[in-house]
Amino acid sequence: MKNPQNSLGLSRPHPPALSQWHGVRSVGAKIARRVKKLIGRPDNSPWILRPPKASPRKTHVDFMFGLDYLSPNSRLVELFQEAMAPYGLSILPVNQSNVNLVVQQIERGWLQPHVYLDLASSTHPRFNDLAIAAAARGVYVIDHPADLTTWTHKASSHQRLEQAGLPLPPSIILPKGSPDRELTEAERAMIDDRCVIKPSAGFANRGVVVGVEPTRAEIAKARDFNRDDDWLVQKMISWTRCGNRPAYLRGYHLLGHRSLMWWCKENGEDRYELLTWADLQHYDLLPAVDLIDRVAAASGIDFFSTEIAITSANGPDRFVLIDYINDQCDMDPECRPGTTPVPEAWVKWVCGHLADFTWRLKHDRSCNAEKTLTLQ
Ligand SMILES: Nc1ncnc2c1ncn2[C@@H]1O[C@H](COP(=O)(O)OP(=O)(O)OP(=O)(O)O)[C@@H](O)[C@H]1O
Ligand SMILES: [Mg+2]
Repeated sequence: MKNPQNSLGLSRPHPPALSQWHGVRSVGAKIARRVKKLIGRPDNSPWILRPPKASPRKTHVDFMFGLDYLSPNSRLVELFQEAMAPYGLSILPVNQSNVNLVVQQIERGWLQPHVYLDLASSTHPRFNDLAIAAAARGVYVIDHPADLTTWTHKASSHQRLEQAGLPLPPSIILPKGSPDRELTEAERAMIDDRCVIKPSAGFANRGVVVGVEPTRAEIAKARDFNRDDDWLVQKMISWTRCGNRPAYLRGYHLLGHRSLMWWCKENGEDRYELLTWADLQHYDLLPAVDLIDRVAAASGIDFFSTEIAITSANGPDRFVLIDYINDQCDMDPECRPGTTPVPEAWVKWVCGHLADFTWRLKHDRSCNAEKTLTLQ
């Protein structure tokens, strides 16, 4: 008879029928050991160790993630399923068609996943409602909505991360409602002749003005984009190149684990590229991992990317954080208009750690305390 093949294409022989009499075998082994002990000849050879019997906390669905435009047939859904299935975990993708129903079911307590990963609350208000409703019902939400504004809004995270001693571009913060003004002489000396003016709660480059003189007129023009936000006037940082790429990284933190990718923003195009162990060594990038750890320790945010420019300076000033904490990281590996595809190997890294984390919550196991660094 032909051997059955497993998913890796390896053939596994059919087990002999007798080997499947598990119950009988263990009772037999137990009796034999007892008898040997009674007659004064104990059998101390190793025995089979089985997993402790802890009953999992059962739910209708184990893991849920929200991305407004995502089809159930997309590659990302498939990757989540591939990662969760070996752990026996079910997943529910939430998109624009089921978000209202899912919010209702969460609010009624009818749906109570162990983990909800939010990838859409900043672009779609219903996903914001979902994150808040899930967190209020005790679902573990990544990232927890209560932590977010403080840390994802650049004006408040700038102040906190500066206090924590992280290397940030010198910045002047103009709070909402404050008048447009010329910079003082001391401020001008700190910012220099070319600056970046950007909104605190911005994302996807919206409202960011790069490379202008920090004058009252430029500040006013930039702030007209959104007068309801705080604004930063920042020294413009220049980064070098690493081979044929801009020396600009995205450092990732996910539940204690870390990864790095190149962020290649050139000629009006954004691109992610995998970063290798050889790159780490060749360009001496280990200090970037330390920066990720320090941002994670200061903020306590579970899953974020931080943008790190590598300047031509030597020593500790070589790395500068440009955009401090981005939640709702891009995770879609497919090319679509208006999104930036992410390398699949990195997406698998994220899905794998989320599966391990969800399984531990489900089975009341302590979380994995080890910190890993994953590159290609
Ligand atoms: N201080 C700075 N010096 C030089 N360039 C900067 C600076 N701040 C921002 N930039 C440039 O502007 C881009 C957008 O800025 P930033 O990331 O802070 O805003 P964002 O709206 O959060 O963008 P995104 O959501 O795309 O990350 C950065 O990727 C970088 O290229
Ligand atoms: Mg950014």
